[in-house]
Amino acid sequence: MGFMKTIDLRSDTVTLPTDEMIEAIVSAHREGRFGDDVIGEDEVVHELEDKAARILGKESALLVTSGTQGNVIALLAQTRRGDEIVVEEQSHTYLFEAGSMASLGGLFPKPVKGVRGYILPETLQSVVSPDDTHYARTSMVVVENTHNYAGGTITRPEQVKALADVAHENGLLVHCDGARLFNAAVALGVPAKKLVEDVESVQICLSKGLSAPIGSMIAGSEEFIHTARRVRKRLGGGMRQVGLIAAPGIVALEKMVDRLADDHANAKILCKAFSKIDGLVVNEPETNIIFVHLSDFSINAEEFSEELKKRGVLVYGEYGKRVRFVLNRMVEREDLSRVSSAAEEILNPVRI
Ligand SMILES: Cc1ncc(COP(=O)(O)O)c(C=O)c1O
Repeated sequence: MGFMKTIDLRSDTVTLPTDEMIEAIVSAHREGRFGDDVIGEDEVVHELEDKAARILGKESALLVTSGTQGNVIALLAQTRRGDEIVVEEQSHTYLFEAGSMASLGGLFPKPVKGVRGYILPETLQSVVSPDDTHYARTSMVVVENTHNYAGGTITRPEQVKALADVAHENGLLVHCDGARLFNAAVALGVPAKKLVEDVESVQICLSKGLSAPIGSMIAGSEEFIHTARRVRKRLGGGMRQVGLIAAPGIVALEKMVDRLADDHANAKILCKAFSKIDGLVVNEPETNIIFVHLSDFSINAEEFSEELKKRGVLVYGEYGKRVRFVLNRMVEREDLSRVSSAAEEILNPVRI
């Protein structure tokens, strides 16, 4: 039997580091640039943090272990226990971060319905609690850009501004969960900083489509990062010779942003192929995420994912009747027809 490549569409987190990333670690080591970052002595981390701050248009940035850690640090550093945080009801911070804002920060999430993941300014206005002792203090709103569960949807700079204006008028801060901010920036053809001009803090992931093995950055004012550094330490995220992580992170920011356009183009091609399968409802991807809906078929996402796996295609099977396909660097253009043919072969016999 010939070799069959496994096509991994579970997430863009499955991307392996590039050769250049590994070489960057070795060169930084040879040049003696690593040090103990808890006492501020790793030069490579400084370089990465300066670069991230510049790219995001903020005064300062901080390397953190993961997107989840970055989001919770940003929340904890800018709020008080008992505060209420407005989140989109299908956002990552609300659904998929193990309740960290509540368990670690004593924060009270207030989930609201968005439109394609975007919280409308009027929705925010309608849920800010009055300054009355009966209510928790509403102190922040989280914007997820792109929005994962809504299908990699983009919040445009003017939408961020409109929401931030309402937030600021009501004394709220704005945090951007920009795990995939560069996907939005590349798809819109705008610099990433344009998407976070109006927010106080932002988290970006180095280890999703940008392919670094580990790490996220948070950015904002000097004062915010000063506090965030202490919160990171409190959470056990103060790391030592962490230039090992920063070196690939620099390559991620310098070399891997523009190529996200390939993932977006592949998503469009795959979507087009899926839309030819009778009964399959597909969302038109704005970036690298496609959701298909199996309501016209007698199988659910779990069964569909098991069948795909037998044909060498991996997706997560946990979304009921919805199945997510995430285009990423490990999936090449020539793999796409195998994915759509596999889907067709599985779905044709089980159409209702
Ligand atoms: C929108 C969004 N935010 C945050 C995260 C958390 O990132 P991490 O997995 O690095 O904790 C993810 C990861 O899947 C994500 O999709």
